[in-house]
Amino acid sequence: MTELRHLVSIDDLSLAEMEAIFLKAREISEDLTGWAHLCQGAITATLFYEPSTRTRLSFESATQRLGGGVITAADMRNSSASKGESLADTVRVVSSSYADILVLRHPSEGAARLAADYSGVPVINAGDGSHEHPTQTLCDLYSLWVEHGHLEGLDVVLAGDLRYSRTIHSFAYALARFGANLVCIPQHGFELPGYVVKRLREEFGVEPVRANAKRLGDLAASSDVVYLTPQKPHQLSLFTDAKGKAQDIQHVHAVYMTRPQTERYASGESEDSAQYMQLGKNTMAAEPLKDAVVMHPLPRRDEISADFDSDPRGIYFKQAARGVPVRMALLGAFLGKIDVFDKEPKLPEDLRRGEKDEVSCPKESCISRTEIRHADTKFKIISRVPLQVICAYCSNEIAVGAVGSRTTKQWHPPTSAQLKKVRPEEMAFFEDPEAALAGGFQPAPEVSAETEEIAPPVL
Ligand code: NCD
Repeated sequence: MTELRHLVSIDDLSLAEMEAIFLKAREISEDLTGWAHLCQGAITATLFYEPSTRTRLSFESATQRLGGGVITAADMRNSSASKGESLADTVRVVSSSYADILVLRHPSEGAARLAADYSGVPVINAGDGSHEHPTQTLCDLYSLWVEHGHLEGLDVVLAGDLRYSRTIHSFAYALARFGANLVCIPQHGFELPGYVVKRLREEFGVEPVRANAKRLGDLAASSDVVYLTPQKPHQLSLFTDAKGKAQDIQHVHAVYMTRPQTERYASGESEDSAQYMQLGKNTMAAEPLKDAVVMHPLPRRDEISADFDSDPRGIYFKQAARGVPVRMALLGAFLGKIDVFDKEPKLPEDLRRGEKDEVSCPKESCISRTEIRHADTKFKIISRVPLQVICAYCSNEIAVGAVGSRTTKQWHPPTSAQLKKVRPEEMAFFEDPEAALAGGFQPAPEVSAETEEIAPPVL
């Protein structure tokens, strides 16, 4: 039996699969109304626990253009969620005989991963908190691909709220995988989260370099610009010279602007939109931006001034329109009607379920904290030595201060080379050595030896 596929993260699709979706979307866009035979009778359920205009309506339009039907819970606050029903139970019910595919938007990071665990049909993540928004990324990549004919080597500015914008996170991962360069121009205080930068470096091999923002003019006037580029040692020397001078940005292909995600701000984070960066004709007059296309996932507030709408470089409404053919291709693929998937799909990741005595995800809005009845901690090990783990739901780093072996009942420091010999499934992750001791784990001989060496002499 073939494994049921879901689209929870943009990582769930290979580069070849994404390219096949773009080709199909382009074919579909040439005759949008000519595909009503493709998914006749299929039902899409749209479960939205957060507001949406484009994402939900384009999924519903895409389903109907493919000949299918839609059942929708556009505002889950009016559903049994308000009676205390868990996401897991709702998903179990809707994915039984109600629908053939689920499209889910939810405020908790990792919600789509949890839904996929409980669903009998494919789950498509339409945005989970500030984590990811993979289908928006497909629309964004497709737009760039249509405009430029390729993705590799493009210089793409990511601007605005890089911290809470889920569209930015999925887009950055995918651009890095396609070999594009990222120029990060964050609103001050809303830089890319540490876990995203870490993944970009460690999993996708990009290297952050300080960039000289002067040539980018007003757009970058009050930001620390960072240039992220696929790591090719022979190239790196071009970017930081011997005196440590910052990289010049010569030519940008696209500027991707985002709105302040005020609904996710922690208390104390400023909602004063007058302080927020703005893009318009003047900012786009800077030399390196002269022929850059301007993109935005929408909705916008004031971050792109309306006077820019008539500029041919502004493609944000075209980008939204392209959402329909892209989502038609995607639905066709996940409903098994369009052949875009690799013959040998990537093996499911090796995830470890946490026990009660172990560390848990520190992020309060992670689904493992908000849906505790159905979501245990799940660890994804991204490095064995030194040991590094992230939460398998929200991708945040989980700090581990001591690693136990459930076989030997001993604990090791996370930097210990001995961890190579401990199988992931027998590992236990603790916040610190005290927690490991409290859990009944003794220091491994290496730890005892170190302690003996530094122990003060007994007088
Ligand atoms: C985005 C989202 O919901 O993350 N919107 C969308 O899906 N097109 C961007 C946003 O809300 O700012």
